[in-house]
Amino acid sequence: MARLEPDVRTVKEIQAAGGDTVKKCYQCATCASVCPLATEEVPFPRKQMLLGQWGFKEKLLSDPALWLCHQCGDCTVYCPRGARPGDVLGALRNMAVRELTEFKFLWTFYNKPWGLPIVFLIALVFVTLSMSFFMGGIPGIFHWDLIPSLHVEEVHILFLKLTSNVLAIDAVFIPLAGFVVVMVAIGVNRMWNGMVENAGIPAAYRMGFWSLVTTYLGPAIREVLAHARFKECGANQWRFNGHRMLLWSFIILFFVTATVFIAADVFGFHTPWPLYNPVKILANIGAILLLYGVISIIANRSRAAAEGKLSSSYQDWFLIYLILAVGVTGLLTEILRLLHNGFYPGMYALHLMTVFMLFLSIPYSKFAHLVYRTTAYVFDLYSRDVRAQMKALAPVAAEAAAEAPGETEAEEAEASEASGEESSE
Ligand code: HEM
Ligand code: SF4
Ligand code: SF4
Repeated sequence: MARLEPDVRTVKEIQAAGGDTVKKCYQCATCASVCPLATEEVPFPRKQMLLGQWGFKEKLLSDPALWLCHQCGDCTVYCPRGARPGDVLGALRNMAVRELTEFKFLWTFYNKPWGLPIVFLIALVFVTLSMSFFMGGIPGIFHWDLIPSLHVEEVHILFLKLTSNVLAIDAVFIPLAGFVVVMVAIGVNRMWNGMVENAGIPAAYRMGFWSLVTTYLGPAIREVLAHARFKECGANQWRFNGHRMLLWSFIILFFVTATVFIAADVFGFHTPWPLYNPVKILANIGAILLLYGVISIIANRSRAAAEGKLSSSYQDWFLIYLILAVGVTGLLTEILRLLHNGFYPGMYALHLMTVFMLFLSIPYSKFAHLVYRTTAYVFDLYSRDVRAQMKALAPVAAEAAAEAPGETEAEEAEASEASGEESSE
């Protein structure tokens, strides 16, 4: 019989990623009993603690339970050994984000404090280069006449009369969006294949991409929008409101950005638009919701940490403060512009840099939970159906087997003959 060997290197990786308490677990199962989200079919986090102690990386990183845990911290409070299972799962999620993506050096920059200036520098280079090329520098700050840049008139002729301002943004953010979409698609594909294999879903029950999307994505998104699992997880109430506001603010701001993009790039209605414009009003509502959501998250996370429910890693604070920076610089840009203040262009450039950092962080930071958690919800709904179908068919299969004993006996005889042949070889 093959002997199981622990993967010590993975165990050390988990400990270094923030799961330093993983070895304290003695498998009492208190955590799985108190977890409001664990079910009989998808039990966690006891199982993941065991897998973590053995360092079974493949199994762990393709486990939907990692993403179904809502990090309420209840299990951590009840664990009699101080093994902090909620925090260990958080560490495993960070590791999973790294494993699932490409260009892993970007993950390193986003997940280590020393990487912060590098990420900022990347954003600075892209935004200022684009502004220099299309606008001759950040207006009002640099007038780099010596930098070879197109004149605004030439830009107009070249690009369907777009203003240099719109071009400067498009030149950076359209390729960035393309890159992020490809990285996310690679990650989701890897995650999905891993989960299907790990769960041992038979080939007959596997579905194509479009069937999955049309059957399960809608219900999963409905759960996300309603924050149904946050509600289910009673202990997570402290996070529910702030997170919901934040999610809706992103949806509103995404809609506003898409509208401005079409209006400016396609129809030539260039910004800035007046404050009474309905899209502008919506944008300001989105900004207020964002600030409300993120400030309430900061307050509540600090309280939960003080109560010992969860510990906060660099990755946790990075995402929260980056979102705050996007909100604050956005609002300041608007205020400075309305005041005709000379700091407006610089603040605008800073705002674009924070947006760039947040956007690029989607496949590389904790922000990846946006897609991976949604994918785990889809998988959860799908695998529930698969289990129900298999269960429903089980009596039929047993009946069929009972009705055709001859065949079964023959098959059994064949099988034992084959195994006899094999063993005699
Ligand atoms: C634009 C969309 C999203 C944004 C800006 C966002 C932002 C955040 C932030 C800042 C936190 C940290 C909260 C805290 O520390 O208390 C967080 C946590 C969380 N988010 Fe999201 N989120 C988004 C989408 C989603 C989606 C789609 C899901 C579920 C499918 C989700 C599920 C969660 C859960 C369960 C947590 C708590 C666990 C943790 O902190 O890792 N989020 N989110
Ligand atoms: S993590 Fe704690 S509560 Fe969970 S099984 Fe291990 S010792 Fe028990
Ligand atoms: S943190 Fe909350 S949701 Fe996650 S495993 Fe523990 S009890 Fe369950």
